[in-house]
Amino acid sequence: MTGASSGIGAEVAQRLAAEGFRVIAIARRASELAALAGAAAAKGHTIIAMQGDVTDRAAMEAIVTYVEQKFGPVALAFLNVGTYFPDSENDIGGNGFRKTFDVNVNGAINLIGPLVRAMKPRGRGQIAVNGSVAGYGGLPRSIAYSASKAALITMCEALKFDLDKIGITIQLVSPGFVKTPLTDKNDFPMPFLISVEEAGNRILQGFKTGGFEIAFPRRMSWLLKALNMLPYSAYFALVKKSTGL
Ligand SMILES: NC(=O)c1ccc[n+]([C@@H]2O[C@H](COP(=O)([O-])OP(=O)(O)OC[C@H]3O[C@@H](n4cnc5c(N)ncnc54)[C@H](OP(=O)(O)O)[C@@H]3O)[C@@H](O)[C@H]2O)c1
Repeated sequence: MTGASSGIGAEVAQRLAAEGFRVIAIARRASELAALAGAAAAKGHTIIAMQGDVTDRAAMEAIVTYVEQKFGPVALAFLNVGTYFPDSENDIGGNGFRKTFDVNVNGAINLIGPLVRAMKPRGRGQIAVNGSVAGYGGLPRSIAYSASKAALITMCEALKFDLDKIGITIQLVSPGFVKTPLTDKNDFPMPFLISVEEAGNRILQGFKTGGFEIAFPRRMSWLLKALNMLPYSAYFALVKKSTGL
């Protein structure tokens, strides 16, 4: 699991460990990972901390190879890393945009490649990617973030056609607003904000049922799906009015 050192990732890592998974927890902050692993060990659960940056393609390939050799076949991978760098008004498409795509999109595909190569000969495996309802359509103040999440959504849809044929389950997690360090920075209203524990419940339930999309809270995902079916003139007017942005 990537992005396990805080927020949704830390919650899901603990839940999976409590269910008996040996969780390999990847993130950059070693101290946060060590605390997570220590807390799990105190409860008799197993979380193995592995420091790494998902934008480092070679390092991610090496982690998958190492984990498969040392701990056995990966049953479930949750590619959860995602972040938000603001686009500067005077530098649209600048550093913020490029970093967002590198972390959110390349950071997922850097693991999907080696994982699929490992799972394919076994004809089984489960890979879940954390997208966002922000990828259903463009949202204000979200040029890079919305675009990166839209890329993840269509990437997972496209992967499904190929992976279904070789027995690998691909899932797309689509959260609305969840209270985490990422959203704590937001200075605008976040409708239907849910706790990280509730998000963890929905994700674990979705891993078990295995359907393509794990979208929650439903009131948020259906609202945005419905808005995206409207003509653009209505979509832009309603999003502008409801966000005030
Ligand atoms: N919170 C929400 O409302 C919400 C809504 C929709 C979608 N999501 C998605 O849910 C996912 C998790 O978000 P969150 O809210 O839990 O955010 P968070 O608390 O900020 O967690 C992000 C995690 O990603 C890790 N990370 C960031 N860059 C990394 C990199 N280059 N390499 C490795 N790890 C990296 C961070 O750890 P280190 O800093 O230690 O590396 C951290 O563990 C993201 O994909 C986000 O887009 C969140």
